[in-house]
Amino acid sequence: MTEDLRKPILPGTGASDYERYLRTDELLSLQKSREQLLHPDELTFQVVHQASELLMKGAAWELERARVKIVAGEFAPATRLLRRAHGMLEHPVAMLHILENITPYDYHLIRAGLGHGSGLDSPGFLALLHIAPRIGDAFQEQLRVKGLKADDIYRRHEEFFDLHELAEMMLDFDERMQVFRFHHLKLAQRVIGGGVIGTMGTPVEVLQQRMQHLAYRELWDLRNQITAETNASMPE
Ligand code: HEM
Repeated sequence: MTEDLRKPILPGTGASDYERYLRTDELLSLQKSREQLLHPDELTFQVVHQASELLMKGAAWELERARVKIVAGEFAPATRLLRRAHGMLEHPVAMLHILENITPYDYHLIRAGLGHGSGLDSPGFLALLHIAPRIGDAFQEQLRVKGLKADDIYRRHEEFFDLHELAEMMLDFDERMQVFRFHHLKLAQRVIGGGVIGTMGTPVEVLQQRMQHLAYRELWDLRNQITAETNASMPE
């Protein structure tokens, strides 16, 4: 007798293995019901935030795996994992634009239900902020063990191809975080205004200051150093 392939075999209560594996019953019950919504736009607001949290969780996971690879001196696999994490981070940025579409008066109805809820407490974003400097430490430790300076891997980038690729990927991370913060700032300015106080008491201007934050400042500063040295070596 042939097996009925439509019959679920995984544990769980979902009607199919697809639903059981992805736990869609639970996942899709994590949003407010129609009756609970303070405004019909609120479902979009919640879905965008929840989807962003999932993607940031996935990205932080891959970044931690990349860190372990760096510690082990496996730079090419580390770069691959960083690339995957960055692919995930593209989406929270793209999804910010969806919320630009919520108009200020409507947003204030949603905002009234947020309590002191603030993106400053985003577990996904905090996980990214936590892991990034640890990747930097692992990278610097590899340079130290090899007796190299970051400048060496840029000057001799063909010789240190994998390390150079890794450094560039770390720069990409910083750039993505800044792009997120920039688009998020524009979103906040459009929806609640740039001169107001957020739900946790933080002025929106603070978002502008936080945009200056870099995890790998030394790699950015290196560009200044290279340009200054190149300029200095030019004939008058
Ligand atoms: C209408 C939409 C949004 C508005 C008006 C808004 C507004 C704000 C404001 C005012 C802050 C400053 C802190 C505070 O709340 O007092 C903040 C922080 C933050 N929000 Fe949002 N936000 C929106 C959507 C989002 C979305 C979709 C995400 C994605 C997860 C997000 C993630 C964050 C993060 C990570 C921070 C901390 C930023 C940092 O450390 O630089 N926000 N948001």
